[in-house]
Amino acid sequence: MNKNLGLSFLISLAFVGQVHAQRKTITQRVDSVMKLMTITEKIGQLNQYSGREVTGPASDRKNYLLNDIKNGMVGSMLNVKGVKDTREIQAIALQSRLKIPLLFSLDVIHGYKTVFPIPLAESASWDLDIIKQSAQVAAEESAASGIHWTFAPMVDIARDPRWGRVMEGAGEDTYLGAQIAKARVLGFQGEKLGSVDRIMACAKHFAAYGAAMAGRDYNPVDISKQQLHEIYLPPFKAAADAGVATFMNSFNTLNGVPATGNAYLQRQILKGDWKYKGFVVSDWGSIKEMIPWGFAKNLSEASEKAIVAGSDMDMESEAYKKELEKLVKAGKVDVKYIDEAVRRILQKKFELGLFDDPYRFSDEKREQKVMNDPKYQSITKAAAQKSIVLLKNTNQVLPLSKSLKNIALIGPLVNAKRDQAGSWVVYADTANIVSVYEGVKQKLTGAKIGFSQGASITDTSTVDFSNAVKMAKNADAVVMVLGENWEMSGEAKSRTDIGLPGKQEALFNAVKATGKPVVVVLMAGRPLVFNDIAAKADAIIYAWFLGDQGGNAIADVLFGDYNPSGKLPITFPRNVGQIPIFYNHYNTGRPVTKPTDIRYKSAYIDAPNDPAYAFGYGLSYTTFAYSDLKLSTNNPQKNETVKVSFTLSNTGKVAGEEVAQLYLQDTFASVVRPVKALKDFAKVKLNPGESKLITFEITPDKLAFYDEQKGWITESGEFKVMVGGASNDIKLKSSFELK
Ligand code: GLC
Repeated sequence: MNKNLGLSFLISLAFVGQVHAQRKTITQRVDSVMKLMTITEKIGQLNQYSGREVTGPASDRKNYLLNDIKNGMVGSMLNVKGVKDTREIQAIALQSRLKIPLLFSLDVIHGYKTVFPIPLAESASWDLDIIKQSAQVAAEESAASGIHWTFAPMVDIARDPRWGRVMEGAGEDTYLGAQIAKARVLGFQGEKLGSVDRIMACAKHFAAYGAAMAGRDYNPVDISKQQLHEIYLPPFKAAADAGVATFMNSFNTLNGVPATGNAYLQRQILKGDWKYKGFVVSDWGSIKEMIPWGFAKNLSEASEKAIVAGSDMDMESEAYKKELEKLVKAGKVDVKYIDEAVRRILQKKFELGLFDDPYRFSDEKREQKVMNDPKYQSITKAAAQKSIVLLKNTNQVLPLSKSLKNIALIGPLVNAKRDQAGSWVVYADTANIVSVYEGVKQKLTGAKIGFSQGASITDTSTVDFSNAVKMAKNADAVVMVLGENWEMSGEAKSRTDIGLPGKQEALFNAVKATGKPVVVVLMAGRPLVFNDIAAKADAIIYAWFLGDQGGNAIADVLFGDYNPSGKLPITFPRNVGQIPIFYNHYNTGRPVTKPTDIRYKSAYIDAPNDPAYAFGYGLSYTTFAYSDLKLSTNNPQKNETVKVSFTLSNTGKVAGEEVAQLYLQDTFASVVRPVKALKDFAKVKLNPGESKLITFEITPDKLAFYDEQKGWITESGEFKVMVGGASNDIKLKSSFELK
């Protein structure tokens, strides 16, 4: 070997050795801390308290919590935020014998200081880039406030809008949900943990929490293994593959076993099959809740079942702190379970750099600078614009003309601020929130903008109808802003009736009776039922809860400064009786082929099978055409990727964005397959008259289904290919025969 080559070889060897040594450093450093820890200190790392009782006025503080922190009996705190409080509490933790730093965590679900649209709204944008940016902004603001870890993204697939937490996820579809899970994890964490403007994410709630029976929160979940693997687990797997630092288990049972004590979920699937190396935190008190579930006789048995099943950190049960050491000493729990959990937690603390500098996320100057950065408002406004779904626009009544002189804004949410932020906000202040009234006023400075509440959301008074009707009669245009308030969705907010609360639909009917064209803006944390409005309104905009810039984004759509591009991420039922209703349903042995012929068919005698609005549906101010569908092959091998290409054209008069969707149907298989399933999508901006060639790739994994005995398999046979702008609006069809 010549001299130069020999030298470069030695240098590269040293570099690899050094990197190897560096990579080994975290593992070694975890080992070195573990060797010093007593069993008590190890269990301390598995304990997480809520911080509400340790900050604030001294009189309110629970000293026993502070003592536990000081004695190294706490591994993480939630609900401590801000540089001042996180520094203070961290300093207490560093008085412990081993000075192991705390993890500070918080529910940063759709923004920290800058409030973004609720996750279900953002999912309606189908815009993975803005969804990632939203998480990134949340990470930058919370990381500047001393936060290391958010309990997001919530990736629970939900097909039941009675469930209040549908607002927190990405809707009903597994493929869309998996793509959004990945975008949110990467937005929060970046490519690698350790940067002081990124935080750990948490895939929750593991698993199938969205399938709670009857849409009632905290209820049991009973689903087949096939449904679990096909519908509910893929978004978690996508989060794990994206490197999500932590998982959170869930309050529900899965087929009789609470998720928190479910070894099949946490050991066999997550830590076994998926080889997951992060850690699992229980949901709030869910270890202790295994007692009322009837799965544990007492806190000791709950602790034993949870740690053995793979639940690493105990949020707020104090079960591990009180019971684990006794269980280990009694020989009932092998210390290996404790060691495994501690190792996983310490690993993350090292990756975040907290052992090198426990205060590196708590920098006063950085907090000041980041908290007031105006650039974030433009990002949340873009997210809000893209999340709005245009459901109806008769005779192109929208966009309204900016030359209008007299506009009536009617309804209880015209001036909404706190409500517009939705559930799960960190700061309930409304300083930055722009209401619809403000958004319209700012846009039409020369017009008379009238406001009449007309009805409230929570009571049934109709006393103000007359004022509203009178204002409508005298106006050039009528815009009604109706819906739920922010407290009607979110955790523990299931509803048996998902209609418009109060007398709002009656108010609509009274205003509509004036004969004026009426535009309705609906705000909610879930799909609502609003059949009168759907039938009689001239235009309907679904605005979810859009956060800080909601009023401006809605005004932009109302007056044409933004062409709506959102598509529904969840099916809207005609009534509660249709629930669960979702697009990727099975065909049944007696499908309804003609709506007029339902005798002895799988149908209701009092309502059609189809929903009020379908998954993937949303209108635009322009029109799009789909043409020239081509497949790269009509007879692919099982390991072959099929390319699907087509031309998308803007055939209208204004620029717009279309979400083109690819659906597949496996027409015959050893287990029945859905009539269609989303397998790819693209959000494409086109100018009037512009066309673009779009190509989707059907990779082999997109053809697989879960067999309860064999796991994921693919079977030969025909697959139908469908492309269109909604699950019920297929424009192009083809098929291929899988060999
Ligand atoms: C709640 C929620 C969970 C949240 C946790 C901490 O009960 O179920 O999503 O992250 O407690 O607030």
